[in-house]
Amino acid sequence: MNAKTVTLTDNETGKQIELEVLEPTIGPPTINISSLYKDMGFFTFDPGFMSTASCESAITYMCGETGVLAYRGYPIEQLAKNSNYLETCYLLFYGELPYNKAFNEFTDMICQHTMIHEALKKFYDGFRRDAHPMAIMVGVTGALSAFYNDHCDIRNSYDREVVAHRLIAKMPTIAAWSYRYANGLPFVYPDASLNYTENFLHMMFSVPSKPYKVKPIHAKALDLIMLLHADHEQNASTSTVRLSGSSEANPYAAVAAGIATLWGPAHGGANEAVIQMLQDIVNSDNSISDYVKRAKDKNDTFRLMGFGHRVYKTYDPRAKLIREVCHEILEHHSGDTQLEKILDVAMTLEKIALEDEYFISRNLYPNVDFYSGIIFLAIGIPMNMFTVIFSMSRTIGWISHWNEMMQADQLRIGRPRQLYTGKPIRSYPEAKE
Ligand code: SDX
Repeated sequence: MNAKTVTLTDNETGKQIELEVLEPTIGPPTINISSLYKDMGFFTFDPGFMSTASCESAITYMCGETGVLAYRGYPIEQLAKNSNYLETCYLLFYGELPYNKAFNEFTDMICQHTMIHEALKKFYDGFRRDAHPMAIMVGVTGALSAFYNDHCDIRNSYDREVVAHRLIAKMPTIAAWSYRYANGLPFVYPDASLNYTENFLHMMFSVPSKPYKVKPIHAKALDLIMLLHADHEQNASTSTVRLSGSSEANPYAAVAAGIATLWGPAHGGANEAVIQMLQDIVNSDNSISDYVKRAKDKNDTFRLMGFGHRVYKTYDPRAKLIREVCHEILEHHSGDTQLEKILDVAMTLEKIALEDEYFISRNLYPNVDFYSGIIFLAIGIPMNMFTVIFSMSRTIGWISHWNEMMQADQLRIGRPRQLYTGKPIRSYPEAKE
């Protein structure tokens, strides 16, 4: 059967071009414009990539209209119910769910890589104590490229696996130590007898002076949050890792670039900004409606953090699942009035916004960041660590996309063009006035 095509006509010259339509497994068909400039002399213009597929991928599918999110074809709701973060890491990277032996081998491999080179501890000392932990994450993760140069042949699939195993294993250690350093606490080494999220909480909160036992409800809630944040198609930070990786850059450095991108409040930094907003509202004399009014005011830079999404034009499926966990974990923290006040404000804010024409007409719904911070607070995780946990979780997404790109038959460096609207070519003045 002939490939489907679309015709583009230059109405000025009458010149036409047939462009091939690429059919996806699911989702919108995609027009292949790669020959457009060569054949027609045109660029396409799409700031923010509102209508542009930057690559082909088999990792994650999402539909903004129906609120579908699936990792390797498995709906996020089913993975949330039946899987865990580490099994999801295996699924995202290798493409299939692991079965007993394979998963045990994977888990053992991750356990073997959780320590980081002792010299990397010195990197923390170079930061001010009040450095934002995300600044430390960018720096220390980038520094991995100076320590782990064995198995860095990016054309070798085994070496790419080793890079992935090291990053999955070491991010919790690097993340927990960024918290310990900021709080003047001694570093706690990984404990291989604990599972992935228990080990992270152990490195975050245990102290030499007394026994520390991870609360199962905390480990379970954190594991679900990490599973839900693991990957999300071609979001800004994943696109950064792909673009960095396309130049054949060191993968640890490429992931550090992804962390830097995630830090922004328009992206992964929103979870911290949501709690700041909710706490401001709780402590303010202004009403919630006043804040909703400000969010709608074009002359006010205030936005409802945790609301809206470039792709989801309905409820973010992850937000629904995280909201359920909020209620569960607050049952275990009943009596924590500040937390209860914050959740009450969040629920009221959501209700008011979802009944307001401004938000309805713009399809603005709560996104993954709207409720996650409440759970982090309940676990005892400080606000400036929220995006650090997001970066720890999204590492598997970044490295799975990097690996997928490196497997491609022909790796091409990403190099977008532009619509130039600057000065015409002009001569340097003979005598400057
Ligand atoms: C994440 O891409 C991903 O997948 C990201 C992520 C992932 O898992 O990787 O899902 C994680 O980053 C979630 C998003 C977290 N960010 C926030 O919660 C910050 C608040 N949200 C907004 O900044 C905004 O909604 C974005 C950045 C998320 C999306 O921005 P878009 O797609 O560029 O939309 P836009 O800015 O063009 O907004 C469209 C309209 C505008 O109004 P008009 O110009 O049409 O009148 O909606 C308005 C915006 O002003 N709007 C908001 C709003 N978000 C959009 N108005 C008030 N409050 C908001 N939060």
